[in-house]
Amino acid sequence: MRILMVCLGNICRSPLAQGILERKVAAQGLDWEIESAGTGSWHIGEQPDPRSVYTAGQHGLDISAQRARQFGRQDLKDFDLILAMDQSNYRDILRLAQSPAEAKKVKKILDYTSDENGGDVPDPYWDDDGFEKVYQMLDQACDALIEAHR
Ligand code: 4NP
Repeated sequence: MRILMVCLGNICRSPLAQGILERKVAAQGLDWEIESAGTGSWHIGEQPDPRSVYTAGQHGLDISAQRARQFGRQDLKDFDLILAMDQSNYRDILRLAQSPAEAKKVKKILDYTSDENGGDVPDPYWDDDGFEKVYQMLDQACDALIEAHR
């Protein structure tokens, strides 16, 4: 299974989601491949935001080797599951889908943990204190995701 985590910049939320899920998948010996991308182009080639690197580090996770890239049409063909961090990412991804089969691959990551399909992972870019909360939300969602698809 190939899973792609998607946010806006690919420097704050989706790199954390990628790192968290990669570690869980490795620990459970699952043959899943995880990547991340951003719908926007501003940060292509950059390392994750230092605040995401720091927060991951607080949990013993090193995400510093990741580099940002932009989401594209081909990703809807290459991946089995495409997980948007929020409603805006979700809409931007769906706009590029070229068939119902591609559209069906797209979900919001908090669909796995929230009762309604309304959960957004808040963008912490403008909120230094938001990163740990984002980490916790993603950690729970990744546990639920593994339970749902293993
Ligand atoms: P992310 O956060 O989508 O979680 O990576 C953001 C990073 C950068 C920007 C917005 C959100 N930006 O506008 O540059």
